[in-house]
Amino acid sequence: MAKKQQAKNQTKMQTKKHDQVQMTTMDYRPKRPRAENPVKVQDLTLRDGHQSLFATRGRTEDMIPVAEMMDEVGFWAVEVWGGATFDTMHRFLNEDPWERLRILKRYLKKTPFSMLLRGQNLVGYRNYPDDVAEAFVDRAAANGMDIFRTFDALNDYRNFETVVKGIKRAGKHFQGCICYTMTEPRMGGDVYTLDYYVKKAKELESMGADSICIKDMAGLIAPYDAYDLIKALKKAVKAPIHLHSHFTSGMASMSHLKAIEAGVDIVDTCMSPYAFRTSHPAVEPLVMALLGTNRDTGFDIRLLVKINEVFEKEILPKYKYLLDDTKVSIIDINVLLHQTPGGMLSNLVNQLREMNALDKLDQVYEELPRVRKELGQIPLVTPTSQIVGIQTVNNVLFDTEKERYKMITAQVKDLCYGLYGKTTVPIDLQLRKKALKGYPRGEKPITCRPADVLKPELEDVRKAVGGLAKDMDDLLICALYPVTGRRFLKWKYGIEEPPASVKPKTLEMAKGEEERVKKARAGESVAKKPGKIPAGHANLRTFKVFVDGEYFEVAVEEEGGGTTGGSTAEAGASSPAVKAVRAEPTSPPPAAPAAAPPPVAPAPAAAEAGDVDGTPLRAPMPGMIISLEVKVGDTVQEGDTILVLEAMKMENSIPAPTGGTVKAIYFGSGDSVAKDDVICVIG
Ligand code: CO
Repeated sequence: MAKKQQAKNQTKMQTKKHDQVQMTTMDYRPKRPRAENPVKVQDLTLRDGHQSLFATRGRTEDMIPVAEMMDEVGFWAVEVWGGATFDTMHRFLNEDPWERLRILKRYLKKTPFSMLLRGQNLVGYRNYPDDVAEAFVDRAAANGMDIFRTFDALNDYRNFETVVKGIKRAGKHFQGCICYTMTEPRMGGDVYTLDYYVKKAKELESMGADSICIKDMAGLIAPYDAYDLIKALKKAVKAPIHLHSHFTSGMASMSHLKAIEAGVDIVDTCMSPYAFRTSHPAVEPLVMALLGTNRDTGFDIRLLVKINEVFEKEILPKYKYLLDDTKVSIIDINVLLHQTPGGMLSNLVNQLREMNALDKLDQVYEELPRVRKELGQIPLVTPTSQIVGIQTVNNVLFDTEKERYKMITAQVKDLCYGLYGKTTVPIDLQLRKKALKGYPRGEKPITCRPADVLKPELEDVRKAVGGLAKDMDDLLICALYPVTGRRFLKWKYGIEEPPASVKPKTLEMAKGEEERVKKARAGESVAKKPGKIPAGHANLRTFKVFVDGEYFEVAVEEEGGGTTGGSTAEAGASSPAVKAVRAEPTSPPPAAPAAAPPPVAPAPAAAEAGDVDGTPLRAPMPGMIISLEVKVGDTVQEGDTILVLEAMKMENSIPAPTGGTVKAIYFGSGDSVAKDDVICVIG
């Protein structure tokens, strides 16, 4: 019996002759016989695809034009939600995440919806208490979710208990994930072995998993390891096996094929404009590769081409600028050395760039495996990828020769305490001790299920938010994202005007922008005076200019050299050399209104100019102020926490550089700061 099954699963790559399939050369949609065991395909374009390539900025209105056609393809499911979408939508797009589900359901009527659920982390970056987790799953199901792809960054399935109960209660599909990671160049070593994965799959089966997914978020799985792994899993468990492998290293298409030969049931792909790079293999080559075999997908290639046309012509011109095209190569073989998932990699690069420290990228790669090992050799996937990534950046930027882990993020402290669950191997004892010194929950780490120590939060959130949240969906946005969630609800209910940066672009605007960028590139020769551009000058003035929600820094020097008190407007008008630097394309500028004239000098400069005597506390990194722990007039000791700064979703406690009295504060909670902005002055 087992043998028969095995034979059925094995792909007969060459067995069917063309005359049997009765296909003419140009007709790819013959009434070709249904394959014996078709590979099922989940499409990720509308979630992981734009999350991987376009900073998760895809808008619902740009999914509608393809939705009905996508519904006709025959996908096993379409992934439309979860991961970073919930965060990005309410933070950057002024869109209600719940609404997306309801809207898309009107267009995709046949194909099940799937979401990525971060176990007890839900769609956030920490473990939430059970009351929040229960309400979230309940509302996701009610709003139209069918398949809950559930994972835990530590593969600690105690973090599944509450959400799985909710998924089952709602009668939905529970897909359990095993995060695929390695410590060696290939599967093996002494931590993440074949046995490890088989054991994890059995755990998932005993929890009632309707399917089991190997989640290869960094594209690490090698084709022959995929073959061995799928073979072993097919033998060990009954649930269908699903492979999710990012293309980052360039191996995923090969791994798919080997997995298909080994009998994998479902694979993940993207429509080709959203495929490859740090995203996923494209669906079209897979359809063609399997055509006429016993694992033929049965998809109509011409329909896929039609969908791609809409993406290319009507949708992607709005997003193309987000694609990281700094390298010609579409693969990054380095990922096999540093094991950084795509999303994490672009985050790290952005963060370093914003801190003018891009030259330290190599140091970050070097430090990363060390930090990971000291933190228990954990898989790198949201949120652990961010936790390890940011801590690594902090170490590279702030550590001294004498002291490592000088600035430990709140999340690393939580991890050391056990709030994320059990790490694969124990955390370095010295690091754990340092991290937990003065930790508010206690210096002794816990060993129980993390949510067991978390108090219910919904009632507190309800009280804090008051009438702003009209229903449970609103309330959950605030429970998951306290600061940006409330800001979103104010936009949603017209209490505050959303900034220009969150408004959608039209195709015309996008094309206009593209033209301007093209012109600006070509225009270097137009603006250039004969001869060399003069070198930087002491009288160079820098202006921040906001155009259509984009932010440019422009350096202006007056004709003839020195500024002799001529008005700003004149200086600008006669400027011979204007250097436009595109800054922060992915994060919106601080809430400065686009209509206001650019200030002659940026506000923080006033503090530097010496209006207030004392030691300035500068932002060590760009980010958003979560909370200010002091007010003007407070006395502080050196090292006291002055504020909590959120950078790349991690919270950093920023200490007082010196003792004294807080003389001035220039920012409030919720404000965005750039690196080196003076936040307050202590004297
Ligand atoms: Co993914």
